Amino acid sequence: PWSAERAMSIVAEHARQRGALLPILHALQETFGCIDDAAIPLLAGALNLSRADVHGVVSFYHDFRRTRPGRHVVKMCRAEACQAMGADALLDHARRSLTVDAHGTTADGAFSLEPVFCLGNCALSPAVMIDGVLHGRVGPERFDALTADLRA
Ligand code: FES
Repeated sequence: PWSAERAMSIVAEHARQRGALLPILHALQETFGCIDDAAIPLLAGALNLSRADVHGVVSFYHDFRRTRPGRHVVKMCRAEACQAMGADALLDHARRSLTVDAHGTTADGAFSLEPVFCLGNCALSPAVMIDGVLHGRVGPERFDALTADLRA
């Protein structure tokens, strides 16, 4: 859970470096799972930025989440090579199969579905990353098999 004290110590660790905002945001997300609403005014105050500035940076980078992710994070590549190999259809399949919208989390908190831009696995498209593990040439059946065990 969010702790202002913990967040302040993360800020203090990075505050002296140039362009401290991004490393701080990454560290906050790593620690708390997302960028809590309370982090925005805290960072603005600590780094002498406006809240709008901080908010702008958080929303510009899709890496930053505003809500806690599901227990399993499914990243699906939407870039060119994967598009050519049916990434769109696979994403539609994933949305139906997991009952979740892109950028959303399932009602039971089991999965977050995140379209991303290129997983660096273009030769084995379409590519999917589940909990940090990369999978290539993923079709609908393989997708269901990969996620089946994680549903519980
Ligand atoms: Fe999908 Fe690169 S285009 S992994």
